[in-house]
Amino acid sequence: MNQTTIFVTPTLLKGQSDAAASLLQLAKSGVVKLAYPMGSEADAKTLCKTHPYLSSCLQATEQNLFDRITDKESTFLLDVGIKLSFYCPLEIATSSVLTLFFHTLSDAVQYIDSFPVPSIQLPKLIKEQAALLAQGKLVAFPTETVYGLGADALNEEAVKSIFAAKQRPFFDPLIVHIAKLEQLEGLVVDLDPRARLLMDHFWPGPLTLVLKKHPSVPAIVTANSQTVAIRMPSNPLALNLIQASGKAIAAPSANRFGYTSPTTATHVKEQLGERIDAILDGGACTVGIESTVLSLCTEIPTILRPGKIGIEELKPLLGEVIVTKQVGPTDTHLESPGLLESHYAPTTPLYLVDDVTLYKDQSDVGVLLFEKQKVPFKGPVVYVSETENAEEAASRLYWAIRHLDTMHLRCMVGSLLPEVGIGVAINNRLRKASAKH
Ligand code: TXA
Ligand code: MG
Repeated sequence: MNQTTIFVTPTLLKGQSDAAASLLQLAKSGVVKLAYPMGSEADAKTLCKTHPYLSSCLQATEQNLFDRITDKESTFLLDVGIKLSFYCPLEIATSSVLTLFFHTLSDAVQYIDSFPVPSIQLPKLIKEQAALLAQGKLVAFPTETVYGLGADALNEEAVKSIFAAKQRPFFDPLIVHIAKLEQLEGLVVDLDPRARLLMDHFWPGPLTLVLKKHPSVPAIVTANSQTVAIRMPSNPLALNLIQASGKAIAAPSANRFGYTSPTTATHVKEQLGERIDAILDGGACTVGIESTVLSLCTEIPTILRPGKIGIEELKPLLGEVIVTKQVGPTDTHLESPGLLESHYAPTTPLYLVDDVTLYKDQSDVGVLLFEKQKVPFKGPVVYVSETENAEEAASRLYWAIRHLDTMHLRCMVGSLLPEVGIGVAINNRLRKASAKH
């Protein structure tokens, strides 16, 4: 890490209570500087004086920081969120600066440790892992929703190994991921104009479309159905991996069947590490819950699984849209504790309650909080959001559940969010996660 320079924004430094300690740690092995936005020079200078490890400060926005410095290769910008930006030109990208998101500052610091020169390391890794996919191997990769476990969709043996690694029953079909629209050829037939319209609007992004299947898609991918689910993820690492593999990539969420979907590379490693060929680490997923699944093969377009893209956004384009009542093979429904690896803590029961503050005195109850609480809790709490921000809550939900699940608690409690926008999808996942108890 000798050459590494980390710029930190004043907002992160001020807003993150543990920031100073983590950055001090970093300053031992690298150079930590402050990057301040226009108009806050005085503020920045004061911060530099308060924190002597900040060697200097520079006026810069995320966009122009990397243009202004000569050593782009090993420069990072840490911002609130927790966002880590670095220079990494990729073939498919809207910018030469890649921004990844982390749940904790120490996760971000660990990422800098593993990838001190990401602009060289990541493209090389993508190339190697794309080659693995082309050879029929299994590679887990980040998407904007959750991590996927990928394999060549047209290679039956490779797809079979996804089911084996996940212990997933064959009746649950897979989503095929593409990087370019040209890949649709050979995957679907009779593409209707509504599909085109939706692709124009929402791709790349967290919308999966169920369309009429091309005969060349193996039956194992679609669970014998004449339809196939397709999506183009927006995560640049995912897009470049798929593109470099030259294949359409079948990818379910990269968890053992029946468990919460993984939103970090560490989650994937914990459940599937030994069973797969590679994991592409792209930090934490920004959306945090699985894509909206919309079928265009029903009489009226039907949402089979709610996600970030809600019915409110789909209706203006499609007219009538309905939401299926049936709960399909679920992501979060625990099949049997027998599926658990012995090193993995048993899944703690999750209860949905109206008022979480009733549990404030119970030290063996973990609490998921969606808004700032004034009362102190005796048990562990996780702020999924401090401001009832549903998008933020979605991005942290699975991480929060997993975090509490490692604490050997009697149970965890949480409340439903208002049923609007992504709140619908969050509530759907909360209900599924709690259904078995
Ligand atoms: O965000 C996502 O969609 C993530 C990332 C990795 O892309 N993937 C994901 O895959 O959540 P999975 O396999 O965990 O969930 C796919 C869902 C399942 O509920 C499955 O039943 C449904 O999509 N599905 C897949 N193909 C289908 C089809 N042909 N018809 C109806 N439903 C289908
Ligand atoms: Mg899943």
